[in-house]
Amino acid sequence: MVSGKSSLAIGPLRIEPALVLAPMSGVTDMAFRRLVRECSPGAVGLVVSEFISIEGLTRNDLRSHRMLRFHPDEHPISIQIFGGEIDRMVEAAAIVQQTGVDAVDINCGCPVPKVVKRGGGAELLRRVQHLERMLRAVRRELSVPLTLKFRTGWDADSINCVEVAQMAEAAGVALVTVHGRTRVQLYTGSADWELIGAVKQAVGIPVVGSGDVTSVAAARERIDRSGVDGLAIGRGAMENPWLFGEIAADLAGRSQPASTIDGRIAALRRYRELLDEQYPEKVTSARLRGMACRTLKGFPGSAALREAASRTRSSDELLAVVGAGAQAVLASEPPRSAA
Ligand SMILES: Cc1cc2nc3c(=O)[nH]c(=O)nc-3n(C[C@H](O)[C@H](O)[C@H](O)COP(=O)(O)O)c2cc1C
Repeated sequence: MVSGKSSLAIGPLRIEPALVLAPMSGVTDMAFRRLVRECSPGAVGLVVSEFISIEGLTRNDLRSHRMLRFHPDEHPISIQIFGGEIDRMVEAAAIVQQTGVDAVDINCGCPVPKVVKRGGGAELLRRVQHLERMLRAVRRELSVPLTLKFRTGWDADSINCVEVAQMAEAAGVALVTVHGRTRVQLYTGSADWELIGAVKQAVGIPVVGSGDVTSVAAARERIDRSGVDGLAIGRGAMENPWLFGEIAADLAGRSQPASTIDGRIAALRRYRELLDEQYPEKVTSARLRGMACRTLKGFPGSAALREAASRTRSSDELLAVVGAGAQAVLASEPPRSAA
C-alpha cells in the first residue's frame, strides 16, 4: 500500500481505498456501518459485520439471522462467521452467501472463553490442520471470495501467523487480515506490526493489518513499517467515524480538516435514526450514549458535556442535552479541531 495508490483486490472484488471497517461484536451492526460510511463518504473500502455464530445460523436462531441483514448501500460488505465444526461452518457459509454478500470471512481471532472452548475463534490457531480442512471445505462451497482474520498466534511461545497465512493462501483464501496480538494478549500492549509485515512478505494474497490504527499518523507509520496492502480500523472508528476520510485524504496527498462540533452532533442525530430502524428505544439510547461519550471530545467543556450525556435516560433527552451543550460551546468560543 503506497500513498496515492490505495486499493486492493479480493478475487474479483475491488476494495478502494484499501481501508476496512474491522468487525466488532456489539458494534459493527448495520446502523454503525452505515454511519461510518456516511461520515467518511467514499473512504471506507469494505465493511465487515459483527461475528455471527455458525451454531445460531444453522439452528435458525432468529437473532443470528437478524445480524445477517445489510442495506443495499453497504456494498462491498463482508460477513464474518465463527465456530469450530467443519460441516456447520460450510452450511453457515452457504447461508451467508445467499444474502448477496460480497465476501465471507472466518473468525480465527476471538479470544473469548465461551467461543474458544467450543473450538472457534483463536482456538483454531492451535488446530491448524483442522483449520485447513475447514477452509478447503468452505472454499469448495462458496462462489464469493473467502477471507480469514486471525491473531499472530495463541501466545508468545506459539506465534504461527506466517504459517497460518501460507496455509490459508494454499487453501484458496483470497485475503488475510492479521490482528497483531496473540490470543493471550487480548487487547493489551500494542499490536506487533513487524509480525504483520512478516506475513505480508510470506504470501502473495493481499494482507490487511489490524491493531491500533487510531490516527492519520498511526496509519502512515503502520503502512511504512509493514508494507501491508490495507488497514483494518476498529476502535479508532468507534471514537472517530471520520477517521477513514482523514486517512484516505492523506493517502491521496490531501489534508482533511477534523470534524467540527456541529458535524459530530449531526452524526449523533443520524445515528439515532439508523439505530431506530433496527432496535427498540432502550437499545438505541444506550448505544447513542456510548457514541456521544466517545465522540464528544477535544473542545472546551467537552468533559462536562460527556458527563451530562452519560446521565441521560432517553435518546430525545440525550440529543437535547448535547445539542444545547454544543450551542453553548459554539457561542462562547470558536470551535477547535478534534483532538
Ligand atoms: C468491541 C470489540 C469487538 C470485536 N469483535 C470482533 C469480531 O467480532 N470479530 C473479529 O474478527 N474481531 C473483533 N474485534 C477485533 C477487531 O476487529 C480488531 O482486530 C482489534 O480491535 C484491533 O484493531 P483496533 O486497534 O483498530 O481496534 C473486536 C474488537 C473490539 C474492540
